[in-house]
Amino acid sequence: MPSFMHKSVLVGEVLAALGPRPGGRYVDGTLGGGGHAAAILAASSPTGWLYGCDRDGAAVEAAQGRLAEFAGRCELRQASFAGLADWVPADSCDGVLLDLGVSSFQLDRAERGFSFQQDGPLDMRMDTRQRDNAADLVNRAGAEELSRLFWELGGERQARRLARAIVDRRRERPFETTGSLAALIEEAAPRRGARTHPATKVFQALRMAVNDEPGALPRGLDAALMVLKSGGRLAVVTFNSLEDRLVKNFGRMQARDYTFTGAQDVPELRQPRVPTLKVLMRNAVRPGAAELADNPRSRSAQLRVMEKI
Ligand SMILES: C[S@@+](CC[C@H](N)C(=O)[O-])C[C@H]1O[C@@H](n2cnc3c(N)ncnc32)[C@H](O)[C@@H]1O
Repeated sequence: MPSFMHKSVLVGEVLAALGPRPGGRYVDGTLGGGGHAAAILAASSPTGWLYGCDRDGAAVEAAQGRLAEFAGRCELRQASFAGLADWVPADSCDGVLLDLGVSSFQLDRAERGFSFQQDGPLDMRMDTRQRDNAADLVNRAGAEELSRLFWELGGERQARRLARAIVDRRRERPFETTGSLAALIEEAAPRRGARTHPATKVFQALRMAVNDEPGALPRGLDAALMVLKSGGRLAVVTFNSLEDRLVKNFGRMQARDYTFTGAQDVPELRQPRVPTLKVLMRNAVRPGAAELADNPRSRSAQLRVMEKI
């Protein structure tokens, strides 16, 4: 098995946002290879504590190895960050980090089925205990549903054409591998000269759907708010515009000193309330030139930081 290769993104910026210190309690809801977690534990030495989780058992195992030197200062488990509040005490933490998406380790291992660049089973489950994988979705969903997923989760402009091509092809033979799906996409929607592979958006959409990423994120943000103490910081790194919008809107809603019912915010119908969060910066932070040169996979990363009131 190859060692866990993942370059953590925006590490300095995340540390600046969370400000780890001795005695502080922190959560890393997306351990991956444990890079951010190690940085948080090192910066909060000798008494800082970390609760860490990842949906992927292989990630938790890798993080356990990486964080061995901090044994006795962390509790790690295989779990979704959506359920953080079930095991992390309420109002107890000084900082929560969510670094969303997939790790390079997941992408680079063909047998996990996340990558269109290497042939492997069409899987994409982060938690391999989950029943349905990407092949189940691709071979069973109707053309309308596939098209909606490709457009809404991937921003794929040729969503309909690709969904129809998939449904036609699977009548002959169900899709079992990433390679067969990537080849069909290249055939149905060739993009000569494009910078990205034609299957990029469809693969992103399928991964997000298989792992219910748009459903987990709002639950994770609510859970983070519950476990943070007053003055605690929430740092979220996103890799696509849908997730960034969800995080931005969550911050906006929680920072409001009023609520409203109905679809429209009509000033006369506002109900005053105490806001729960402060948004610490108007714009998301992006990697600088040095990080982009060192780690091209960081190019779509955006960090947003909020503080619980
Ligand atoms: C970008 S990587 C994190 C890398 C990590 N920060 C590091 O420094 O190595 C994203 C990780 O989040 C995990 N993940 C995605 N959604 C999750 C969820 N709902 N709950 C827990 N982990 C999740 C993935 O399995 C993956 O390991």
